[in-house]
Amino acid sequence: MINVKRISHATFETPDIERLTDYYIGVIGLVPLQREQDRVLFVSRLGDVSVILTRGSAPNLTKIAFQVSPQDDLQTHARFLSDQGIRSSVDRVSLPGIERMLTFRDPKGTTIEIFSEKTTASPVREPTAVGPTKLGHIAFMMPDIHPFIAFYQKILGFRVSDWQEDFFCFMRCGADHHTINFAAGKSTRLHHMAFELKDWAHVQTACDHLGRKDVPIIWGPGRHGISHNIFIYHRDPDDQIIELYTEMDQMLDEELGYFEPRPWHKDRPQRPKVWDRKSAALIWGPPQGPDHARQRNME
Ligand SMILES: [Fe+2]
Repeated sequence: MINVKRISHATFETPDIERLTDYYIGVIGLVPLQREQDRVLFVSRLGDVSVILTRGSAPNLTKIAFQVSPQDDLQTHARFLSDQGIRSSVDRVSLPGIERMLTFRDPKGTTIEIFSEKTTASPVREPTAVGPTKLGHIAFMMPDIHPFIAFYQKILGFRVSDWQEDFFCFMRCGADHHTINFAAGKSTRLHHMAFELKDWAHVQTACDHLGRKDVPIIWGPGRHGISHNIFIYHRDPDDQIIELYTEMDQMLDEELGYFEPRPWHKDRPQRPKVWDRKSAALIWGPPQGPDHARQRNME
């Protein structure tokens, strides 16, 4: 098994790379470290590669990059994948702080990129816009989520954190409650992508910034039940849902098997479980907005 430690960055194809570049600079506050005609590479203000945009025919998340232990050997992982009947390759790459990557595809065709060593790409910068601390998690939807849950468990070492009834699975690869989610939906597509903010005050600053930029908040602010993060959601210019969140539950010790106690937990200890729809959605906050709810029904 490949034991993924953390998510690094996501690669998006977009038909209007200039428009999405303006959004990532002006609204999200990522730093465009490399800017070419058909490709823009963004780092967070802390210097980590977070998002890569490439020009394509339709909005699509094409690749997710994960980091593994510096002790891991990518060729050993490639042999493991081959034993599982999964084709992969290890190639040199020219990304800031990352030299080699193992690549293969998950069952829906998303390219998974694995690297074992990285250095931070650039110095800390003051945010020009929201300025998230990292890319935090990616949620997908598809008609049958079970093969994907099995793949991310068996191949990438993910663990199930929580279920919302039988249609929404939250999976972790490190201390964060979830890094990848799978929700049952009409079609196979991205559900939302989320950036972490440093605290509740940062969420307030983000709300004011979205207001200044005339970007409507489609749900929130509120605190979810599952994962207990404070959240706000909006849509990017490609109509993808972007979440900004903070205070996500943390499982610091897998052996103990519970999330670090927090004042807003109703279970003590807070262990992975199956949540009903209502308590999963909110501890407090407004009900889910229609522009958020429509995603799972998209054809
Ligand atoms: Fe989320």
